[in-house]
Amino acid sequence: MEEKAKIILDGKTFEFPIIVGTENEKAIDITNLRSETSYITLDNGFGNTGSCTSGITFLDGETGILRYRGIPIEQMAEKSTFVETSYLLIYGEFPQRQKLDEFAHSLKIHADLHPDMLKFFDGYPTTGHPMGLLSAMVCSLSGYYPELLNTEPTQEDIRTTAAELLSKVCTITAYTYKKSMGEPFVAPRRDFEYIPNFLHMMFSSPHQPYKMMEEVVSALETVLILHADHEQNCSTSTVRLVGSSWANLFASISAGVCALWGPLHGGANQQVVEMFEEIQKAGGDIQKFIDRAKDPKDSYRLMGFGHRVYKNFDPRSKIIKEKAHELFAKLGIHDPLLDIAVRLEEAVLKDDYFTQRKLYPNVDFYSGIIYRAIGIPTVMFPVMFAIGRMPGWIAHWKEMKENSKSKIGRPRQIYTGERVRDYIPMEQR
Ligand code: CMC
Repeated sequence: MEEKAKIILDGKTFEFPIIVGTENEKAIDITNLRSETSYITLDNGFGNTGSCTSGITFLDGETGILRYRGIPIEQMAEKSTFVETSYLLIYGEFPQRQKLDEFAHSLKIHADLHPDMLKFFDGYPTTGHPMGLLSAMVCSLSGYYPELLNTEPTQEDIRTTAAELLSKVCTITAYTYKKSMGEPFVAPRRDFEYIPNFLHMMFSSPHQPYKMMEEVVSALETVLILHADHEQNCSTSTVRLVGSSWANLFASISAGVCALWGPLHGGANQQVVEMFEEIQKAGGDIQKFIDRAKDPKDSYRLMGFGHRVYKNFDPRSKIIKEKAHELFAKLGIHDPLLDIAVRLEEAVLKDDYFTQRKLYPNVDFYSGIIYRAIGIPTVMFPVMFAIGRMPGWIAHWKEMKENSKSKIGRPRQIYTGERVRDYIPMEQR
């Protein structure tokens, strides 16, 4: 017999279907709750609310499991590339060699920016945050590719738009960096693969090609793979919500970039390294910072700790920590901030405040250390997160678009304002 959830309201019993996912995750389907009972549910921060069914990423925060299309993140990080991971997330299956080559090629041929878009960089203040520029430019791509804006896009439209976004996000990022440094732009090269091409645009100069190091490419590959998707996080939910109004993929992802920017989400990697620098400036006294984070009267938080879903450990942080140590050992560099990170992590993991609240290092805790070692400035860390998350955003928008049952996202509310009252003329206020 089909299992049902029973809800008793005003003495009357209502039944709602139970939905079970492939990993035995259970949900009460309350689609008809309001029409049958006139009640709604209230769930601050959506901690208990499923906004959709999805076949892209599985995450179990209690046991620290993360899988892309069923593949454990540990295997993806060790064996895949970011381009292959992107294909898997967006199209659902591993590509055959020829398909992968075609996909990689499409990323190369779409990397150039329209010459008119280069003027954007002139108009943006050098002190402006790169996430603002990224969001504006991603949205503006819609103006340059009107042929891709069908409200019912074909598979070909989606393929092209995805390639535009995945490749142009690197070019926009590299040019933003060059502009901030007062250096000339370095055009993408079609004979370079995705990550080497990004590093080339970032760090080559007209007279001095960037010295490509396998260790750096591999570290960046891993970091981007780890960021590629994380099911219904704040930015991905934003992409889906905006896209649910049939807004185009460029507009939806531009909104996702803005959601990612916040310090509680993708902006955290920047804040983490700034926190390490502050600790360093304060003479390395980590306890002072821990005490501040524990003080209930102070809103200060230790950045890079805690996660809405992971309540045991974040599997990405484990991989990224190992990668950071490996990169530093291979490059023979020593960053005092890495020492601070290790000491802070050790102290936090022994502290009751953090263990009781299940606050463990998250993906942002070590990613910034790797970006720093590569030479990426702190202010650009959230942009690196955006490059990594791009395939996930695209995959979710595509999945939502292809689901004939998708509806416009429109939550309800419980109104707590004034009851009806009369307009008050100015002289009586
Ligand atoms: N430092 C100190 N206390 C914390 C922290 C922290 N980093 N995170 C949570 N807490 C406390 C919080 O004050 C609360 O305490 P109490 O129960 O006494 O009021 C308790 O832990 C639960 O916190 P919450 O804010 O209700 O938890 P949440 O699930 O709503 O928030 C979070 C999750 C990631 C926003 C939060 O842990 C946080 O702000 N962390 C720091 C920012 C950060 O590193 N963000 C990156 C997340 S991973 C990358 C991504 O996917 O975006």
